[in-house]
Amino acid sequence: MSARCLDSVWPLVLLVMMVGGQEVIAGGPTGDAAHGTRSYDDYERPQVCRSCHDDLFQQWSQSMMSQAFTHDWDEIEYFQLAVPHAEKDEVVAGVKHGCNGCHAPTAFLAGDTPPQRPDKNTRANESVHCDHCHTITGFEGDVPYNFNWVTKPGRVKQGPKPGLVSPHHDTVENEFLRTGDFCGTCHNEMSPYGVWVKSTHLEWKEGPYFAQGVQCQDCHMPKAPGRSAKMGEEGMIAQHLFHGAHDPGKLNGAIEMRMNPLEREIPYDAAAVIKVQLFNGKCGHKVPSGSVEDRIMWLHVTATDSQGKTWHLRVDPKGFEGEKYTIAADALAYQDMGIARDDPDFEGVQRDGVGMEEMDIGDRIFRMPYFDPQGRMTIQQWNTKSLGVDYRIGPRETKVETFTWELPDEIAEGRVTVQAALNYQRLVKPVADFLDVPEEESRIQVINTATTWFEVYE
Ligand code: HEC
Ligand code: HEC
Ligand code: HEC
Ligand code: HEC
Ligand code: HEC
Repeated sequence: MSARCLDSVWPLVLLVMMVGGQEVIAGGPTGDAAHGTRSYDDYERPQVCRSCHDDLFQQWSQSMMSQAFTHDWDEIEYFQLAVPHAEKDEVVAGVKHGCNGCHAPTAFLAGDTPPQRPDKNTRANESVHCDHCHTITGFEGDVPYNFNWVTKPGRVKQGPKPGLVSPHHDTVENEFLRTGDFCGTCHNEMSPYGVWVKSTHLEWKEGPYFAQGVQCQDCHMPKAPGRSAKMGEEGMIAQHLFHGAHDPGKLNGAIEMRMNPLEREIPYDAAAVIKVQLFNGKCGHKVPSGSVEDRIMWLHVTATDSQGKTWHLRVDPKGFEGEKYTIAADALAYQDMGIARDDPDFEGVQRDGVGMEEMDIGDRIFRMPYFDPQGRMTIQQWNTKSLGVDYRIGPRETKVETFTWELPDEIAEGRVTVQAALNYQRLVKPVADFLDVPEEESRIQVINTATTWFEVYE
C-alpha cells in the first residue's frame, strides 16, 4: 500500500501502527479469522439504502456482485463441488467457509456457513451488498487478497466524498474506496496451496493503468452528473455498474484485431502467410481475468476461395513451454471434479470444446491453465497447486499470431477472403454441460472480427 493512503485515509477513523515496515491496522480480525465475529444484525439490508439511493440500488441489483451468492453457476460450484470436496480433503477444508468471505461476506462474518441454499432466501442472498462495502475501512497487510478487508459496521458509512449529510446515517470520506486496493481485497485470491488463482488487482498493479493513476473505479464505476441520493446534491456520481465479463457491451471490442497477408499475390503451389494482431486497448488487466480457470478466448480463422469453398487454418506454433494448452485439441481434462462426486476414476470431460461450430483443432486459445496436485488441468481454483503458461493478453499488450497455409490443390484462382473471429466463453462448454450449468454461462460471444484477402494465380 502506498504512503499516500497512509497520510490521508486512516488517521480519521483508524489507528495505524508501523511494525517492522508493515502496516497493521487495529480494526478487528480480517480474512479467515473474521469468521463468526459479527451478526447479520450488524449490517443493514440493501432495501434500506434503496429508499434514498434508488438509482444506485437499481444499478447494483443488475450487477453480478448483487448475485455473487445466488447466481446459478455460483450455487452449483459451491454446493456441488466445493463443499463436498472440503469435507473430504483437509487441505481445502477451509473453503467451506472461505468462499463466502467474498461471495456472501455477511453470512461469513455471521458464521452462517455453509449458508442455506439461495431458494431459502436467507440474508446470504444479499451477496456483496451496499452496507458491506460502505463499512469497509481499509485492509490488513501489504497486499489485498482473500477478503482481508477491515469491517466496521454501524452508523458511519465510508464514502468517497467529504462532508455529506444524511438523515439516516453519518458519512466519512475514506480515500480507500477510491483505490483499486479496495477491490483487490476480493479480486485477488490465493488457493490453499499458496497459488494466486485470481489476480485481477495484481495484473492491474503491475500494468500501465496503475502507473498512470487509473483505478478500477474509473472503468467499472464511471462518474456521471446526477445525484447519489434523492435528496442529495448534484455532482459527479460514481455509477454502480460493476460491468464485466457478463456484460456484452463491456466485452465487446475488449481486444482489437487486425489481419494481413505477407504477400497479396501468391502462386497456386505456394503457401499464404497471414498475420493477426490482437491488441488489448480497453482493459486495465489481462484478458481473460478473474475466474481464469473457467474462461477461454480463442482465435478461429477460415479462408474462402473465389468459388466459395472454405478451409479452416491452424495457427503456427511458437514453441514456448506449455504451448499445447493454448492450441485447441481433442484432449480430456478436469478429472478432479470426480473427487466431490465420489468418482475417483472420473475420466474428465473435453478440455476445450472442439467440435463446436466456432472451434476447431488448431485454434489459438488465450488462457492460463490451472493444475491440481496431481498435475491435471482443473477448473477448481481452490484445488490448484500450480499454474501453466500465462498466454493471456495483458493491458495494452499486442500479441501477433501467424497462420502459414500451404494452399490446397483444389483452390480456385482469384481472390481468397480470410476471416478471423475472436470468441469468448465464460465457462468452457464441456464443463458447463457436465454440471448442467445454464446455457447462458457457456454462450459464445464474438469479441471482434477481422478480414483480409489475397489473390491466387496459376
Ligand atoms: C463492491 C462494493 C460496493 C457496493 C456493493 C456498493 N458500493 Fe457504493 N461505492 C463503492 C465505491 C468503491 C464507491 C466510491 C467510488 C469512487 O468514488 O470512485 C461508492 C460510492 C457510493 C456513493 C457515493 C457516490 C458519489 O460518487 O458521490 C454512494 C451514495 C453509494 N456508493 C451508495 C451505495 C448503495 C446505496 C449501494 C447499494 C445499492 C452501494 N453503494 C453498493 C463501493 C460499493
Ligand atoms: C433516509 C435516506 C437515506 C438512507 C436510507 C440511506 N442514505 Fe446514504 N445518503 C443519504 C444522503 C442524503 C446522502 C448525501 C448525498 C449528498 O449530499 O449528495 C447519503 C450519502 C451516502 C454515501 C456517500 C458518502 C460519501 O462520503 O460520499 C454513502 C456511501 C451512503 N450514503 C451509503 C448508504 C448506505 C450503505 C445505506 C444503506 C445502509 C444508505 N446510505 C441509506 C441518504 C440516505
Ligand atoms: C467483498 C468482496 C468484493 C469486493 C470488495 C469487490 N468485489 Fe467485485 N466481485 C466480487 C465477487 C464475489 C464477484 C463475483 C460475482 C459472481 O459470482 O459472478 C464480483 C464480480 C465483479 C464484477 C463482475 C465480473 C463479471 O464476471 O461480470 C466486476 C466488474 C467487479 N466485481 C468489479 C469490482 C470493482 C471495480 C470493485 C472495487 C470498486 C469490486 N468489484 C469490489 C466480490 C467483490
Ligand atoms: C482501463 C479500464 C479498466 C480498468 C482500469 C480495470 N478494468 Fe476490469 N475490465 C475492463 C474491461 C473492458 C473488461 C471486460 C473484458 C473482460 O472481461 O476481460 C473488464 C473486466 C473485468 C472483470 C471480469 C473479468 C473476467 O474475465 O471475468 C473483472 C472482475 C474486473 N474487470 C475487475 C477489475 C478490477 C478489480 C480492477 C482494478 C484492480 C479493474 N477491473 C480495472 C476494463 C478495466
Ligand atoms: C478472495 C475472494 C474470493 C474467494 C475466496 C472466492 N471467490 Fe469466487 N469469485 C470471486 C470474484 C472476485 C469473482 C469474479 C471474477 C470474475 O468475474 O472473473 C469470482 C467468481 C466466481 C465464480 C464464477 C462466476 C462467474 O460469473 O463466472 C464462481 C462459480 C465462484 N467464484 C465460486 C467460488 C467458490 C466455489 C469459491 C470457494 C472455493 C470461491 N468462489 C471463492 C472472489 C472470490
